[in-house]
Amino acid sequence: MPVIEGCLPVTDRMRIAVRISSAEIAARIEDMARDIRAAMPDETLLVPVLTGSFVFAADLVRALARAGADWPLDFMTLSSYGAGTESSGRVQIVRDLRETVTGRPVLVIDDILDTGNTLLFARNLLRERGASDVKICALLDKPSRRRVDLTADFTGFSVADEFLVGYGLDKAGRHRGLAYIGAIEE
Ligand code: IMP
Ligand code: MG
Repeated sequence: MPVIEGCLPVTDRMRIAVRISSAEIAARIEDMARDIRAAMPDETLLVPVLTGSFVFAADLVRALARAGADWPLDFMTLSSYGAGTESSGRVQIVRDLRETVTGRPVLVIDDILDTGNTLLFARNLLRERGASDVKICALLDKPSRRRVDLTADFTGFSVADEFLVGYGLDKAGRHRGLAYIGAIEE
């Protein structure tokens, strides 16, 4: 079976076209980490929104450490998708934070800002709980898909309106382990 960029094998009927290479992602994350380090206060609580952000978050926290920011981290799992590729618009807390956010600056980290439902829900929730500041960091931004008024404070790449997989992003639970971000071509 063919292998793309040293990653998962794909079948003859399905190819994944590279949209953002692993080298491009790595370079951009170093810049993002420096920007975040400069803009956010020390001890900002990092809150990656699982599941899609886990690969990005792992690389971002290490880039932040290289940039001199050794900050606390806690995960939250939110769900707005079923098994399909369309946001249901209803966001649910699947697993909540263990940390208390009252009085603390928070950086919410996600793989992609799409309709905006998920990250708007997260921002409102953390503000209601008394966070002193809530900023948003998304590796990818699909501005053409937005259904709510929300802009990320830190963005990696602006992308076109097509469904992407890899680097944590899945389609029906698959392709999260690709080192690059790609689009499925069937
Ligand atoms: P939103 O609530 O519509 O902004 O969607 C946010 C979540 O939907 C993201 O955190 C992703 O998990 C998922 N998502 C949105 N677009 C894509 C995509 O192109 N590929 C994979 N997952 C996506
Ligand atoms: Mg997600």
